[in-house]
Amino acid sequence: MGSNKNTYSFEYEEYLNSDALSPADKALVEAARKVTADAYAPYSHFNVGAVALLKNGQTINGTNQENASYPVTICAERVLMSAASVLHKDVPIQTMAITYHNLNGSSIKPASPCGMCRQALKEYEDRTKTPIRLLLTGMEGKVYVITQSSQLLPFSFGGDDLK
Ligand code: THU
Repeated sequence: MGSNKNTYSFEYEEYLNSDALSPADKALVEAARKVTADAYAPYSHFNVGAVALLKNGQTINGTNQENASYPVTICAERVLMSAASVLHKDVPIQTMAITYHNLNGSSIKPASPCGMCRQALKEYEDRTKTPIRLLLTGMEGKVYVITQSSQLLPFSFGGDDLK
């Protein structure tokens, strides 16, 4: 036999709604839902809100920032990480809550960070040597709890691959 069949899998928790979370996680989810109002999304009308709890106890917000030149747009997660890098240099992110809504203001399916943000999250984990917990949710309903954001990026590319 010249080949192996391998499997990639990871466990995550699913909560029925934010009331089922710990008080700290619930607060983070509620803060992220609130911050969607601050998104600058005049083109997609897809408002994304992210709030992170840092290891130093501070919280940082992020919202998507769009641009008439569409590719210039920055996602909420990367806006958040840039702000954290500047305002709290080298402080690890413990947990990040991410949510969104479109023009009608509601959403039920948990948020799914885009590929570019998954790559940026991995780099943040690597540079701070700390896994980032994710709370993925909509404006109501289910919350997925992911232990480590890089679990969402199997076969990832990172600094070690450049050596
Ligand atoms: N967006 C985010 O902010 N985060 C994601 O993970 C997915 C997409 C934003 C980018 C753009 O402003 C809008 O959502 C539609 O793609």
